[in-house]
Formats: sequence, structure tokens, C-alpha cells
Amino acid sequence: MSKFTGLSLDNATSAPASESMSAHSPLSIFITTRDAELEEEACSSDATMIRGGGVMSGLSSRAGLASCNSPRVGPRPLETVKSTDCLENLLSPSNLVQPRSSCAGTPRVGAGVSTFEPHLMVSEAWENLRKSRVFFKDIPVGTIAALDPTEEALNYNQVFVRDFVPSALAFLMNGEPEIVKNFLLKALRLQAREKRIDWFTLGEGVMPASFKVVASAKGDTIVPDFGESAIGRVAPVDSGFWWIILLRAYTKSTGDYTLAEMADCQRGMRLILSICLAEGFDTFPTLLCADGCCMIDRRMGIYGSPIEIQALFFLALRCARALLKPEGGGKEFLERIDKRLHALSFHIRSYFWLDFQQLNNIYRYKTEEYSHTAVNKFNVIPDSIPDWVFDFMPMKGGYFIGNVSPARMDFRWFCLGNCIAILGSLATPEQESAIMDLFEARWVDLVGEMPLKISFPALEGNEWKIVTGCDPKNTRWSYHNGGSWPVLLWMLTAACIKTGRPQIARRAIELVEARLSRDNWAEYYDGKLGRYVGKQARKFQTWSIAGYLVSKMLLEDPSHLGMIALEDNKKIMKPAMTRSSSWTI
Ligand code: GLC
Repeated sequence: MSKFTGLSLDNATSAPASESMSAHSPLSIFITTRDAELEEEACSSDATMIRGGGVMSGLSSRAGLASCNSPRVGPRPLETVKSTDCLENLLSPSNLVQPRSSCAGTPRVGAGVSTFEPHLMVSEAWENLRKSRVFFKDIPVGTIAALDPTEEALNYNQVFVRDFVPSALAFLMNGEPEIVKNFLLKALRLQAREKRIDWFTLGEGVMPASFKVVASAKGDTIVPDFGESAIGRVAPVDSGFWWIILLRAYTKSTGDYTLAEMADCQRGMRLILSICLAEGFDTFPTLLCADGCCMIDRRMGIYGSPIEIQALFFLALRCARALLKPEGGGKEFLERIDKRLHALSFHIRSYFWLDFQQLNNIYRYKTEEYSHTAVNKFNVIPDSIPDWVFDFMPMKGGYFIGNVSPARMDFRWFCLGNCIAILGSLATPEQESAIMDLFEARWVDLVGEMPLKISFPALEGNEWKIVTGCDPKNTRWSYHNGGSWPVLLWMLTAACIKTGRPQIARRAIELVEARLSRDNWAEYYDGKLGRYVGKQARKFQTWSIAGYLVSKMLLEDPSHLGMIALEDNKKIMKPAMTRSSSWTI
């Protein structure tokens, strides 16, 4: 079992930017002028990125505590650590420190006071993750979705963009950025292809959901899927966002700005942004989506403004803001990003947020209100509030609900949207804490025996028939309909670290360690408690494996969090407006 010995600031350095690059010290590599720009937005806040009172493990010497210029005084309580100490300057110098401690189960030697002992599952996971790599002309370009010899492959033999994210993070954290760079470039090339479904051409910026490498006598070729082969024929809205998020993670982790600064990467980002920032008939800053356009990739009633996409949209906009150069039209996008971030954070924080008080407010809503002074802006009929939510809502805690649209609030809880909202600081610090409180208060419902529920609760009976179209894969408490997905563990762990509640992640990891390897790294679990390996769950599902590794590495070295999390930016997120002032003429 892993053992935590407190926050170590050994060997902290205050080397100035210029020195740090030339010194090639793992501790100082990230303190460059360009890096400061990359993180300008994040550093502008003095809020504590890692919050809370727990004592956390292994922020050890080689974690790059460049801005911590105080002398070493032994383990430091987490709550005394400021974001400027930890996340924004504390990056993962993975390209210079090799290999990382979680690599192949090798215990770390000589790394400050951390006594993190790798679990046996860690080496097994690395072995499986390496086996899942996909090569194009002998170069690793991604990881296969699942390597299950017992099931029909369907499209699980492809490299999915969203599935590769935890693999990429694991490789980055382990000081192996090459596969991530190759993947980013490969996906970019695929984006440039013409995308057609029947006679209709998709937007230029659309990134593939997945691609497969086909080997033939003539050599390797790549066949992408932009939704034209996917079940339901839905284009993946999340792929482009994950691509941008990963590009920032790569840049942040390696200190290599040349990739993101390449004209092609800049263009790729602008193309993605031009689809999602396009003006249309929208009255709201959320992104209008088809059902099934994200991790939940089949009909589950998440069309409209699913929180799963809005949270990723927000995080991707913030990442793009840090990476985009003003040249070549970038300046105009930067301005549009700022406006959108402001509007989106106001909208989601105000209208998607549900806690005990807000639930009570909605319960007492009047309907048929007209004009700008309306309280019940979306004309939500209180009778449409499902019974379960009254019992589910604790006195302390809250969450972003699944969807808000005219007269329709989807009160379901979605894991990815809530965790990503924490990582991108779409949630206010109070909302972040409330989301974590909800995890604790509703542990049995949301975590049960296998982390984590993808959504809660399940749709049953007639509602299941109507909403899913009688989908036999999405029956109650299975798959996307209240199933439990081990991959979500890494997002929970990252959210726990950001909010200073690592003990929650540790509890969840213990559950995973009790079963996941024994169950051959199942894709998902079924049942109210997530006790049963899912009906059609694949074994050796790569993102279950990688998600576990990322969680372990994050807990071992919380400085990795900087790759995938951003601090609240007070410059963008102006104070919330009151209800009547949200209308501007
Ligand atoms: C399922 C999941 C989807 C994932 C794919 C490959 O379709 O719903 O999110 O990307 O499998 O693992």
C-alpha cells in the first residue's frame, strides 16, 4: 500500500527563468518566460489551487518547486501551500527525469522523503498499457481501446481520442512524451481530411472519434472515423476539446513549446474553435450538442447542453487561450474566447448549479413568467422535478446538473462533467468543495463498490424506453445508464487533489485495487453498487488501466496536476451578476 509522508519541499529552488533553462535542471526547467505566459491566467489568482486540510504525499524534490524559495523545513501541511508554489510553477519535468517511480513498478530511489511503494498492480498495469500501444510505420501513435481476445473487436481495436487521454497522461507523467507528440500530430493530419457522411460534409475542424492503423503489403494506412461509422453516426464533439487539452498537457509537461507553436497546430486549434465559437441562433453561451457526442456515445437523453461537453468546452477554451498565438487570426479568437469564458462561467455557475437551497427555490418556482425580471427564466415546471432528487440532495453539498434547456432540467448527476468543471475551475471554489462534499455524502450511490458511476441515477421503465430508444446495452444500472467506470478514477483523483481532499481518492483507489486486476481490467461494472462486471464490458480496457496509473501517479506526485488543471482566473470570471442584471441592452 502506498504510504504518505507529507508534503516535501526538499531542494526547492528559486532559480530565475533564464538560468533555469540553461542549467537543464529538472527542478527549474519550467520557469521560463514562455511558461509564465502560458500560465499567466492561472498565476493571476492567489487562490490556493490545492485546498483543504489533508496532508498530502510526495511533493518531492524533483517536482520542480521552483517558486518555493523558502528553506526546506520538513513536511508541510497542504493548506499552507499556495497555487503559485504548487501548480503553476510546479510542473512535471518528465522529459528530463526518467523513468518515473510508477514505471514498471520500480520504487523511486533518492527522491526526497516520499516513501511511496508501488502496488503490485502498478507493474501489471504498465505492462498492459505498453502492450496496448498502436504503431504506424514502427512509431507509436496511440493506444488501442481494448485488447480483449475473448470478444468481437467491433471498434475497440481502434485508437479513440478520448480513450487515449489517460494513456497520454500516464506516459507524460512517466517521462515518455514521444507517443503523445506522435498522437497529437497524427490526429491533426486526420483533421485535415475531408469528412463526409453520405452527401454531407462535416466542419473542417472536426477531429476523429477514433482511428485504426491498417497494415497491408503496401505499408500502413490510417482509417479515421469522424462519426460516419460510429453507432448512431454522431460526430464526437469532445475529441477536439481533448486534443487541445492534451496539447497543453504535453506542453506543460515537457516544456516543449515548439509543437503547440507549429503553424499546423495553431491552425488546428483555430479550426476547432471556429466550429464551437460560431455565431448562430443561440441565446446561451453553452454549446448545442446531439445526443451521444462524447464519452456517452449513444442515445442517453443528453442532447442540448450536456454538462459533459460544457465542462470540456470551458477547459479547452482555457487551454487554447494559453496556447494560441495572436498571429494568423489568433488574436480575434483570443478575444472571442475571453468573452465566451465569461458568459459560459456565469451561465453554468448560475443555472446548472443545484444544492439544497437551489432545489428548494426551484420547487417553489412560479411559471409563465415573462420579461427580464423572471426568476424562473427557463419556465421549469416544479412538478417535473423527479422524486429521487429530493432524497439524494444532502444539506451540505451540490453539483452541476446534467442539462438545462427550456422547461427541461436534467437533474441527473454526471461524473465527468462535474470533475472536469473542478479541473478547469468552471466551478467556483465553494462549488468545488460542495461537489466533493456530495461525493462523501452520497458515497454509496456515486462510488459504491467500484468507482465511479458515470451518471446517477439510472433511467428505468418507460423513461428508459423513451429516452434510450429501448437500448439493450443501456439498461438500468448498466453501461452509460448508471454503470460504474474505473476510468473515471483519474478525474476524481485529480479533482480530489485540486480541492485538497486526497483521502477521498485514496478510498476510491482501495476499491479499485481490491478488484480491477482480478477482473482483468474491466471496462465497466453494472448494478446499483457497481458490483458486477458489466454485461458487455470489455476486458483489458486500456483506459481502465491507464486511469488507475494516472491516479496513482497523481497521488504520488501531486505536482502532475498542473498538466490537467487550471486555477480560477479572476480576470475572466467577473463576479456573478444578480438575476435582473443578466440582461444587457
Ligand atoms: C464506448 C464508450 C466510449 C469509448 C469507446 C471505446 O463506446 O462509450 O466512450 O470511447 O467505448 O472505449
